[in-house]
Amino acid sequence: MPRVQSSTTSSVWDLADLATPMAIRTAATLRLADHAYPHGETAEQLAAETGTSTVALRRLLDHLVTVDVFALDVESDRYRPTTLGTQMRRDAPEGVLPVLDMTQAGGRAELAFVELLASVTTGEAAYPRHFGRDFWADLDAHPQLRRSFDQQMNWRFQLQAPQISQRYDWNRFGTVLDVGGGDGTLLTEILAAHPDVHGQVLDLEPTTDAATTRFADAGLTERAQAAPGSFFDPLPTGFDAYLLSDIVHDWDDDHARTILTHCRDAAAPTKAAVLLIEPIRGQGTSTGIDLFMLMCFGGGERTIDDIATLANDCGLALSSHAPVSDGRTILELRPS
Ligand SMILES: C[S@@+](CC[C@H](N)C(=O)[O-])C[C@H]1O[C@@H](n2cnc3c(N)ncnc32)[C@H](O)[C@@H]1O
Repeated sequence: MPRVQSSTTSSVWDLADLATPMAIRTAATLRLADHAYPHGETAEQLAAETGTSTVALRRLLDHLVTVDVFALDVESDRYRPTTLGTQMRRDAPEGVLPVLDMTQAGGRAELAFVELLASVTTGEAAYPRHFGRDFWADLDAHPQLRRSFDQQMNWRFQLQAPQISQRYDWNRFGTVLDVGGGDGTLLTEILAAHPDVHGQVLDLEPTTDAATTRFADAGLTERAQAAPGSFFDPLPTGFDAYLLSDIVHDWDDDHARTILTHCRDAAAPTKAAVLLIEPIRGQGTSTGIDLFMLMCFGGGERTIDDIATLANDCGLALSSHAPVSDGRTILELRPS
C-alpha cells in the first residue's frame, strides 16, 4: 500500500494510519511534553530523562514534528511541544493525558481497540480478549490502574458534580445509596450542598476505602458511609433513592437488567426512587466514546426510550427525565 507522505493530505489512510496515534500515545506515556516544555530539549536529553534509545526517540520526535505536535528548532536541535503538543502535559486543561498514557487505566484500555473486529463481529467487549480479564477485574489486579481510573472519573466531575448537585432536588431524599459510586466524589458534593441528606456509596474495594477517606476529609462521617459490595448481588433496602451514575452504559442489556432489577427489588418495599445519570445517545454523545464503550465493556450509549424499555423489563417506570449537567441526563424511575 502506498504510504501517504504529506500530513495535510486528506485520505482514509490519514485517518487509519496507526503510526501517529501510537506516536502520540508513546510521547504521552514518556511525558515528553512535560520534559520539553517550554524551552525545548534535545533528543539526547529527552532520551536520558526517559530511559529510551536516542536514535529511536529522535525518529519518534521527527514524526511528531511532521504532524505538528512537536516543533524542532534546527539551530539548537531542541524539540518542544507545540500548542497541540502541550495538551499532553500533566496539568493541561484538556485533561487528555490519562487516556493517552498507556500505563493508566484509560490509555491502556484504548489499546484493546486492536480487537474491534472481534467486538463488531460478536457484539461483545474486546478488553477481556486483549488483556485476559474484564476491565473491572483488571483494575482489581492493578491498584495503580484503579487509582488512575478513579482520577479520570473525577476529572469530569470537576464540572459535572456541582451541576448535578445544584440542578436536581436532592432534598426530597433523606437517604441516597450511590450504587457504583466510585470514590464518593459525587456523593460528597451532593451532601455538602444538602445538609439534610445522608448517603452511602456501594462499590468495589479498594474504591470504597478511598470513599471513606474522602468523606472523613470532607467532615461528612456522620452522614456518609462507604461499603464494599456488588450491584450483581441483592442491594440493601431502606434508602429513599438508589443512584446509578454512569453505570448502565458500562453494561450490555442483560447485565444492565440485572443491576436495574436489584435496584428495583431494594426500592420496591418503600416505593423508593431509582435515579440514573447517563449520557443520552444522540444528545451530544460522541460516536467514538460509544465505540469505546462497546470495545471496553460491551456497553454503549442508549436513548431515553432504550433506557425506559430496559427499566420497564425490570419493573421500573420512567417518571421524569431532565438534563442535569453538561452531557448528562437524570432519569427518575419508580417501581411499577
Ligand atoms: C464508570 S464508573 C462510575 C463511577 C461513579 N458512579 C461516577 O459517576 O463517576 C463505574 C463504577 O462502577 C463500579 N463497579 C463496577 N463493577 C461493579 C460491581 N459489580 N458492583 C459495584 N460497583 C461496580 C466501578 O468500580 C466504578 O466505580
